[in-house]
Amino acid sequence: MSYTPKILAFAGSTRKESFNKKLVKIAAEAARAAGAQVTYVDLRDLPMPLYDGDLEAEQGIPENAKKFKSLLIAHDGFLISAPEYNSSISGVLKNSIDWASRPAPNEPSLVCFAGKVVTLMSASPGALGGLRSLVTVRSLLSNIGVIVLPTQVAVPKAHEAFDPEGKLKDPKQQASIEALGRDLAGVLTKLKG
Ligand SMILES: Cc1cc2nc3c(=O)[nH]c(=O)nc-3n(C[C@H](O)[C@H](O)[C@H](O)COP(=O)(O)O)c2cc1C
Repeated sequence: MSYTPKILAFAGSTRKESFNKKLVKIAAEAARAAGAQVTYVDLRDLPMPLYDGDLEAEQGIPENAKKFKSLLIAHDGFLISAPEYNSSISGVLKNSIDWASRPAPNEPSLVCFAGKVVTLMSASPGALGGLRSLVTVRSLLSNIGVIVLPTQVAVPKAHEAFDPEGKLKDPKQQASIEALGRDLAGVLTKLKG
């Protein structure tokens, strides 16, 4: 039977007009065109409290964190666009990962991350395109068992980079983001097919 890669795409931003959401949707569409089954999730739709060990002990893992974790579990690969906040990743992305990393009773450690494959990208109005966030998220995800693919793209001057349809105005840049989505689908097929 042929294998269909299952990919979850999301950005580490809740902002409605987020550049990172626009960026990851380009990669997601290309992965879909390459035959993957792609789910896009907007973290704005899954608001979670800040991780608090007391809250977890008293009330368990919040419903939206469980939903996010279930989505991660149900997919083999992730496309993540990570905004850069003060040279690191956004609190929203870190908090979502922290909650998802918490085990339910009798669950193997890091069940939603171990052995998954991720491709990273970023967009920022700044000159580096959020590149420094990718250093952090690459290290973080590697340390929790995610295979982080080597190729990544950071899109600088993001406030000028997209056309009204959400495509990148620079055809080479658009192609490089499409390649990220396509290549993740290809790697998953080789690894898991
Ligand atoms: C608290 C904060 C810190 C930021 N720090 C950086 C930074 O270190 N480097 C950078 O390139 N952009 C920085 N920015 C600008 C973000 O890249 C910009 O707000 C971007 O639009 C966020 O991504 P989004 O459009 O996907 O929401 C910062 C923004 C905020 C709110």
